[in-house]
Amino acid sequence: MDKQKYVFYILFGLLCPAVMGIYYVSGIGCINAIGLEMVIGILSSGAALLALKEYGGTRKPIGHWLSALIPLIAIPLIPVAMISHSGLEAFLARGRVPFATMEGFAIAQLVLGVLMFRGLIFKRGEGRLMMPAIGFVIMSSVLRIRSAFINPARILREIGLQKGQTMLDYGCGIGMFAIPAAKIVGNDGVVHALDIHPLCIKTIEKEIRKRGIANVKTILSDRETGLPDESVDVVLLYDVLQFITDRDSLMEEFHRVLKPDGRLCATAEHLEVSEFLDVITKDNLFTLVEQKRKVFRFERN
Ligand SMILES: C[S@@+](CC[C@H](N)C(=O)[O-])C[C@H]1O[C@@H](n2cnc3c(N)ncnc32)[C@H](O)[C@@H]1O
Repeated sequence: MDKQKYVFYILFGLLCPAVMGIYYVSGIGCINAIGLEMVIGILSSGAALLALKEYGGTRKPIGHWLSALIPLIAIPLIPVAMISHSGLEAFLARGRVPFATMEGFAIAQLVLGVLMFRGLIFKRGEGRLMMPAIGFVIMSSVLRIRSAFINPARILREIGLQKGQTMLDYGCGIGMFAIPAAKIVGNDGVVHALDIHPLCIKTIEKEIRKRGIANVKTILSDRETGLPDESVDVVLLYDVLQFITDRDSLMEEFHRVLKPDGRLCATAEHLEVSEFLDVITKDNLFTLVEQKRKVFRFERN
């Protein structure tokens, strides 16, 4: 399925100049719109082909980044180019249909571009983090939109998080789970919110300061938690495992910090379920207990 995204992306890129051509023949659009769209289409298709070459590799995901950046830049550029070429009056009178079409294609390409690089931008390469601030902005927007469709507090209750417990939210992002978890565990409990990205940690710290939350402790790390042995009741790994390169040592770390009756709750986004289960149950560190919706619950062996 993953590789189909690249094909859809290229199709969007090439379909738009074709639609502009049809508009031109029908007298709705002008030749310049075709030209502009051809440039955007060729650039973005080239980026997608480069991204396809990077697929599964370990190099920096330049093609993936360009696949999102080209439509992102095109979105404000399209009206600017149209207005500066034909003037505001002509744009308002005749340009609205081509404008809406071009923007629709650019937005569709941007969404596909984001989906394409989502699983790649956090990968570490040559010891450096690959996600610049723009990646963080896109990720936090995606997480905020997602929160309208999932109910983190309900998920936390379903995985059995209770008052007084200690939870490690590994790869906490902007705290969509850590903040409601803090309310569930209450003042006698603690939530350790760990993320590789400094902007995530900064966002959570700002939020807990604003809300006066005292039981969320942040950790900036890419694996070591620094927590004592057998000190955690629940490890949450929600929408994170696909970004982790050294999964075996992470599982060892989870095994070390979890209490003997503790549990690991994880989701398998962008992974084959069999691969996901193999990673977590490897070396008999964990045993699958149940799956509720997207969340798999494992007990510590
Ligand atoms: C898609 S977000 C999910 C955030 C959060 N779990 C949620 O569902 O709202 C993935 C998060 O994992 C973090 N991440 C990626 N690789 C990591 C690593 N090696 N160690 C810790 N966090 C990591 C990213 O910075 C990002 O915040």
